[in-house]
Amino acid sequence: MDFSSFDVRKYRVLPVRQGYGEWVHSYEQTVEDEMDLRLLESIETVSWPGIRSAVDLACGTGRTGVWLRRQGVQAFDGVDITPEMLARAQDKGVYRTLYQADITDTGLDAGNYDLAIEALADEHLADLAPLYREAARLTSPEGTFVLVGYHPHFLMQGIITHFHRADGEAVAIESYVHLLSDHVKAAHAAGWTLAEMDEGIIDEAWLAKKPKWAQYRNRPVSFAMVWQKQTER
Ligand SMILES: C[S@@+](CC[C@H](N)C(=O)[O-])C[C@H]1O[C@@H](n2cnc3c(N)ncnc32)[C@H](O)[C@@H]1O
Repeated sequence: MDFSSFDVRKYRVLPVRQGYGEWVHSYEQTVEDEMDLRLLESIETVSWPGIRSAVDLACGTGRTGVWLRRQGVQAFDGVDITPEMLARAQDKGVYRTLYQADITDTGLDAGNYDLAIEALADEHLADLAPLYREAARLTSPEGTFVLVGYHPHFLMQGIITHFHRADGEAVAIESYVHLLSDHVKAAHAAGWTLAEMDEGIIDEAWLAKKPKWAQYRNRPVSFAMVWQKQTER
């Protein structure tokens, strides 16, 4: 679903590459670890040190890569469409190789990774099916796909992914609303089975960092899904 029917703030909307090309300057100061890293920390069905090779889809500035390195993931590549974000990821020095490509059609070889991971980018895709198919293509037959997303409930309150320009103007980045059932349908069609799921809510830890979100207390703001390949039994 297009975000426009939920829009209450009416910010100017930028295409993805232009938006992140600008946001890169303040991105890491504005994205809270509560959104994604806290959910990743709680995942129980992935043995991170056992992952020999992973691909970080929509790696952005490399926040996820730094986290993967801390968990002991042995080697990982990053893919992103925005060169300015990739340059910051390169500076982190944790990725084996970085590729500028669309996460729905990376052009990378099939079956090379134990794990694909994608954080905080699915809302920028008009259709989820190509992402789940590409993650399935990139991973081995025993592969895992971890997806962390901005929660559709939060988007539907009218809060689109946005940032503030140096002059203070709030600008949004092209976004779409995907119901959690849209994820399940797209994942099943690509051969994935749900192994684990969690949702992050606006709780006291969040409010300590963002007191102005008190009105959103207890609302779900992000979610994590761990998908595994369906295997013959
Ligand atoms: C909110 S950032 C998330 C970055 C990183 N995963 C993190 O958690 O900090 C979203 C990223 O998705 C990338 N992106 C959005 N749509 C994309 C696409 N179709 N293909 C590749 N990258 C995409 C943007 O360039 C941006 O770097």
